[in-house]
Amino acid sequence: MIRVQGLYKNFGSFRALDDLNLEVEPGQVLGLLGPNGAGKTTTVRVLTTLLSPDSGEVTVAGHNVKKDPDSVRRSIGLSGQYAAVDEKLTGFENLVMVARLYGMNRKSSAARANELLDEFRLSDVAGKRAGAYSGGMRRRLDLAGAIVARPEVVILDEPTTGLDPRGRLDTWAVISSLVGNGTTVLLTTQYLEEADQLADNIAVIDAGRVIAEGTANELKSRIGSERIDIVTALPENLERAGAILAGIASRAPEIDSQTRTISVAAPDGHHMLVRALEELEFADVKVLEAALRRPTLDDVFLQLTGQRAETQPSGDESSLHAAENQEALQA
Ligand SMILES: Nc1ncnc2c1ncn2[C@@H]1O[C@H](COP(=O)(O)OP(=O)(O)OP(=O)(O)O)[C@@H](O)[C@H]1O
Ligand SMILES: [Mg+2]
Repeated sequence: MIRVQGLYKNFGSFRALDDLNLEVEPGQVLGLLGPNGAGKTTTVRVLTTLLSPDSGEVTVAGHNVKKDPDSVRRSIGLSGQYAAVDEKLTGFENLVMVARLYGMNRKSSAARANELLDEFRLSDVAGKRAGAYSGGMRRRLDLAGAIVARPEVVILDEPTTGLDPRGRLDTWAVISSLVGNGTTVLLTTQYLEEADQLADNIAVIDAGRVIAEGTANELKSRIGSERIDIVTALPENLERAGAILAGIASRAPEIDSQTRTISVAAPDGHHMLVRALEELEFADVKVLEAALRRPTLDDVFLQLTGQRAETQPSGDESSLHAAENQEALQA
């Protein structure tokens, strides 16, 4: 449904996409995972005909983006990285406008708009101007707009960035139901948990090229064994504990001084944990937490790109939508 072969894109002398290759089978979700500046949005813009490739073959739903951009546009729905809604129109009017642009008649446009407003929990603000919506509400309206015409391919650029935890779960549910209906989805994300939850396949991109791909499990098993995490009680013990673990492990441990955590691959699992705890005890290092765990996508990402992925934003935005909607109404 999506095929990208040997895609290059330069901005002046800067190479944003560097021989990028991707493939998405019908009805599958591809998660494009990468740090800031990796080339995710540039890829999305090429796929959606907003940007012309310098070279390479790119087809979406069987249509070439260069030769047949109109057919590509008719086959896709896009929700860009920054929500694009008309602030002067109400939520309802925004969706009706999109439906009309896709050629739906007045009656079915209104019906579809109401259906989506309900699905995205925007019914109670459907008659309010989108300009008064909160960030999360705009994001949900924009996502609804992307699927108005039930396109074959939906492309979502960081669909849950800026959403609170409930908004994120809702969005995940919507994406899953799209896939249940046979829609093909390409989504970009900086959140490993999101890729892990939603994507059949994950392509990790960095500096404009794919540096790893596979299912979440395949990527995790690439870095192999289980891992040990040790948190020391005292910051002054961290260095000594790190040296002890380095002596036991075959790979250098990662040390995070902020969280006082030492993390290291443990090929022989619990044997190594027992030995580490014995040696730490002998060296008088107080251990606050010790755990044996499977590698996460975060470990994969760190190993591949040399940097940690974004952590999911936590509960600080977690106002209930009812309260959020109320606030917007007052505004
Ligand atoms: N129009 C442009 N002109 C010049 N450079 C650009 C342009 N668009 C993107 N770039 C550069 O290309 C690189 C890739 O950008 P892109 O927006 O695709 O990254 P991204 O993976 O979407 O990042 P983010 O996670 O921050 O959204 C970046 O270094 C960016 O500065
Ligand atoms: Mg981007």
